[in-house]
Formats: sequence, C-alpha cells, structure tokens
Amino acid sequence: LNGKVMVTGGAGYIGSHAVLALLDAGYEVVVVDNLVTGFDWAVDPRATLVTAAIEDEAVVRATIRDHKVRAIMHFAGSVVVPESVSDPLKYYRNNTAATRSLLESAVVEGVPHFIFSSTAATYGTPVKVPVQENDPTVPINPYGMSKLMTEAMLRDVAAAHPINYCALRYFNVAGADPQGRSGQSTVGATHLIKIAVEAATGKRAAVSVFGTDFDTPDGTGVRDYIHVSDLAAAHVSALELLVAEPSKSHTLNAGYNRGFSVNEVLDAVDRVTNMTIERRYEGRRAGDPAALVADNAAILAALPWRPERDDLETIVKDALAWERKLAERG
Ligand code: UFG
Repeated sequence: LNGKVMVTGGAGYIGSHAVLALLDAGYEVVVVDNLVTGFDWAVDPRATLVTAAIEDEAVVRATIRDHKVRAIMHFAGSVVVPESVSDPLKYYRNNTAATRSLLESAVVEGVPHFIFSSTAATYGTPVKVPVQENDPTVPINPYGMSKLMTEAMLRDVAAAHPINYCALRYFNVAGADPQGRSGQSTVGATHLIKIAVEAATGKRAAVSVFGTDFDTPDGTGVRDYIHVSDLAAAHVSALELLVAEPSKSHTLNAGYNRGFSVNEVLDAVDRVTNMTIERRYEGRRAGDPAALVADNAAILAALPWRPERDDLETIVKDALAWERKLAERG
C-alpha cells in the first residue's frame, strides 16, 4: 500500500476487529477514535491510537500526512436505531456531518481509497428477501437515512475526485475474535446475540422476544447474522480490490444469504450453553422488519473473500467466550 490504513472507530466493536485483520495481513494501522463508546484497551498495541474526533480536520489531516495514510476504513459513528428516532440530529451529526468532514480531509490530502461501514438499514423494509444492492433504499429510521446520505456523498465525491470507495452494507454483526483478542464490549448493547450471551453469564435474568406474529416460519423476526471476524476479513479483501482497480467503486451487501429467527438464535444459545434461558414473549419493537437477509452474490463475485465462521453455533460460541472474559474482568 506504500502507507498506512487509517481506521476510524478502531476502538469500537467492528473497528477493533478490522484493526486485527489488517495487522494480521501485514498492514500498518493508525486508529482515530474519540473513545466516546470505544475503549483504548480494545486497540491492538501494534496500531497507533490518535484520540480525536473524525470531524477535527486539523488533527485528521495531520494524521494523514504524518502516517502517510493511503486508505481510510471508516467505522466511527452512532449505531442505536431507537436512539436515532428520539435524537435524529445526533445521527445526522455523528454519521452524516462528521463523515462529510472526514471526506473533505481525505480529498484535500489525496487519500485514494475509502471503505465505509454502511448498513442493511438503508433498505428499510426490503422489497424482497434476500435483498439485492440495487433494490430500493427507503430507510425507516434516521440511522439508516444518515448512512444512506453518506453513501450518496461517497458516490458524488468519487465522481469528482481521485478516490474510490467500497460501501459495505452490514447485516447483523455478532460474535468475537476467535483468538479472544476482542469482542463486543459495548455498554447497554441492544443486539440479540449480545443480550443472549449476557443472559447466559448471569448479567440478565431473561431475554425478551420482540414480536411473535411476523410473517416468518415461527413468527419471530429473521436476520442474517454475520461473524465479526468474517466481516473484518471482507474489509481487507475490499481494500485489496480498491487498490487493484482504482477507478471502480462498489456497494456490497455483507451477509451470508441465510436467515435465522429469534427463536432459532435462542435455541442455538441454549445448545451451546447447555442452559434454558428464559424467553419473555413481548410485542413487536418499533420499526422492525419481519425478515432481512442479504443476497450476497455481488460480494462473492467482487471479492475472493469467503465466509469462514458462518455457522450460527460458532458465532454464539465466540460471542459467549468473549462475554465470559468480560464477566471475569468485572
Ligand atoms: N430482538 C429480540 N430481543 C432483543 C433484541 C432483539 O427479540 O432483546 C430481535 C429483534 O426484534 C430482531 C432481531 O432480534 O428481530 C435482531 O435485532 P437486533 O437488535 O439484534 O438487530 P436489528 O436487526 O434491529 O439491527 C441490526 C443493527 C442495525 C442494522 C441491522 C441490519 O443494529 O444497525 O441489524 O440488519 F442496520
């Protein structure tokens, strides 16, 4: 690459796994993170950590120059869907406006490659399952809209300036580094697998099941759960594609083309833990589509990347191992 990769949000859940994947592949990494939701201890010591906000253009531009940054992987942002409904301007600030600043720094300093954490929430309620990249994007919450607006900026910036990008639309990210070096440490997490392993380690009494009357085989919501280490590997693979073909940009679903219901996920957690975790059947959560599964033909065609940890029990086992580590740490 002839320079380093800047990872924004590298102290967070997905970003810290991308840092590991990059370092393991031999890249040099500088992390920019304001540590509002991330943790400095989550950044592998082989990487340099710059504690700053991504919209701080003076610091970001100096970091790009000092570290000869040739690619940016942009994970920093706010990610809680219900919060985006109650505080939309936080999402348009932290996701859309902050990324505008970061892109300006990248363009002014001539960074040639950009990889963006987008989301399946850009589809809203998908017109079909599995959903394809060129299906309509009609977000049903400010979180999804804040990310879709960033996709639009990327498209326009790449048309005007010598920079190419890959926007990866993540489905439901779960699991933890199989070597136990990182995992989901988020305080007050809302994600199903994280909540279930918290229940398994005694941090919660039960798991709520939000909605039992969806149009799905067992009535509970269906999602495409992707292992965080597979997702991190997809970023490294996408970077290699951007470098190989500098005139082309990509928007790709990051998922496995298979879905599991909430009950199937909780069954897997029960099997892995040999427990029967209490389920509390409740009403639907606002804004939840019945099913969201990735058509992943495009990413499989674009990248040599292939899923390695797509087995649901593997995802749960890795998430559980990390949760036990967090519990020991107290
Ligand atoms: N669920 C429960 N109980 C819980 C938590 C979740 O039943 O305690 C259910 C939800 O209703 C849904 C499924 O489990 O059916 C998954 O919910 P998550 O909260 O884990 O994830 P979401 O599908 O709501 O959203 C996640 C990310 C978004 C992303 C989306 C894409 O938070 O950023 O996946 O699929 F856009």
